[in-house]
Amino acid sequence: MIIAIDGPAAAGKGTLARRLAAHFGLNYLDTGALYRAVGLAVLRAGGDPADADAAEAAARALDPAGLGDPALRGEAAGAAASKVAVLPGVRAALLAFQRDYAARAPGAVLDGRDIGTVVCPEAEVKLFVTASLEKRAERRLKELLDKGVSVISEQVLRDMQERDARDSARSVAPLVPAADAVVLDTSALDADAAFAAAVNMISQRHSAG
Ligand code: CDP
Repeated sequence: MIIAIDGPAAAGKGTLARRLAAHFGLNYLDTGALYRAVGLAVLRAGGDPADADAAEAAARALDPAGLGDPALRGEAAGAAASKVAVLPGVRAALLAFQRDYAARAPGAVLDGRDIGTVVCPEAEVKLFVTASLEKRAERRLKELLDKGVSVISEQVLRDMQERDARDSARSVAPLVPAADAVVLDTSALDADAAFAAAVNMISQRHSAG
């Protein structure tokens, strides 16, 4: 089984995807980490994430062994990720890795922006996880503060708005729910309630065949 989870920044995709993978005994891939790793590699080399040649070279050279780097979770990596993510060459370079990962037994949960639309259009289950901008900014702020990163709440909200706008407006693989995705709004749901709602949706889909 392949479960595709898409949605805007800090909607709760990662937490939900990890729990679903454990529950159903599937592998888990955070595809945002791939774009973050490419963005961060360009920044670390002193380059500009919007420079197509530099970003594509970094995407082709990406070593999945480095995906656990805690620096990937920072806002600088997030902003750089959404800049490299508009480049078709970068997306193309990362596509085979994601598809190969999904094809491996026993199946996988992948989360990102274009999993249900581009990476795994054949996924049995597609969820589009979303929440209000205020809720998402609140969650991201808490996540950063918990990690000891000093941030200003207005800045987190602004960064997130900018990133969502860039992700939704780009011409290749924009952030949009697949036609056959089920939308899960987590604005009023904590992690446990979101997980329960998703398991419920998946069981219903499966029994409906
Ligand atoms: O964790 P958060 O939701 O903030 O972001 P992420 O999933 O780590 O993704 C970081 C950035 O990578 C996004 O803003 C997108 O621009 C890009 N991305 C993408 O274009 N396609 C994906 N499948 C995953 C991420």
